[in-house]
Amino acid sequence: MFKFNFITEENDRDGSKAEEEKVAETKTEIETKTESKPVNKHDECHEIVPSKEQTERDYFAPNLVATLNSITFHEHKVHHVSIEDIIEKLAGQFDDISCAEENHSDLIAGIYEGGAKVWECTETVGEYLTKTTDGTKCLIDDFRNSSVLDLGCGAGILGILALQNGASVHFQDYNKTVLEHITIPNVLVNTKSVEKLQERCRFYSGDWTNYAEKTEDGEKFDFILTSETIYNVQNYDKIIHIIKTKLKPTGVCYLAAKVHYFGVGGSLRQFEQILLKEDIFETESAFKCNDNIGREILKITFK
Ligand SMILES: C[S@@+](CC[C@H](N)C(=O)[O-])C[C@H]1O[C@@H](n2cnc3c(N)ncnc32)[C@H](O)[C@@H]1O
Repeated sequence: MFKFNFITEENDRDGSKAEEEKVAETKTEIETKTESKPVNKHDECHEIVPSKEQTERDYFAPNLVATLNSITFHEHKVHHVSIEDIIEKLAGQFDDISCAEENHSDLIAGIYEGGAKVWECTETVGEYLTKTTDGTKCLIDDFRNSSVLDLGCGAGILGILALQNGASVHFQDYNKTVLEHITIPNVLVNTKSVEKLQERCRFYSGDWTNYAEKTEDGEKFDFILTSETIYNVQNYDKIIHIIKTKLKPTGVCYLAAKVHYFGVGGSLRQFEQILLKEDIFETESAFKCNDNIGREILKITFK
């Protein structure tokens, strides 16, 4: 069973020896391309292009063994496979998920970046986009015929919400295992259509730097949705580069995060300060919520 717990290079120093050893075991699988520049195999960007046969064989199958859960944002319902069922199925088969499971951790930097579970800010964004603004209309209505990037999508709930409301969606996650065994099955659970999956969705795994390079000449997006992706300060430049290069000039990025990530170091204000140094962006705090841990949605547009 996963619990709230981060293992990053910084806070790992205080971790138990047993945990360090387990993480080290997995890290030995990290490949080295050149002696001076080690390359983490999870960092490599892959586009996952499921064929009709493979989708029916591999990706519909998990739906049959997993319990289905759902999240309702006002009258919009998004189904997803039970994370516990899928983790139980995957642990022992894939090093990233196994390492997280063995360490009872939600996040192990550079191995498993937290995509298997649905994080709180996803619910915040879903609620925000589906809340009626003038009694009849809500922001999600503007997603019809739009292009959307769900950056750090994890289970893909926000991308699926956009898809259900008429968008085409690129789903990006660090872990290929998450995309193949959680995100894609979740898209299928909701669309029940291999054709829709093939025509309106694309899936990319890997580190944000490699994703940006691989899709350099690819399309730009009307919307970028990104929830709980700024916990690691070392990734701020990568995320900002993606917003800068992948958002259309008229596009909107909704970035949702906890105000502070205790024990890891990231904070929303620090991210915003670094983003605004570019002097091409404008930000607006679109939504704030202070119950329990402060959460916020930052609306980012070009000036
Ligand atoms: C805490 S999870 C949030 C998942 C999901 N957005 C949610 O709110 O439920 C962080 C997400 O960012 C992705 N991520 C983290 N670091 C990354 C990196 N360096 N490159 C690409 N993706 C990364 C993870 O794969 C994961 O999907």
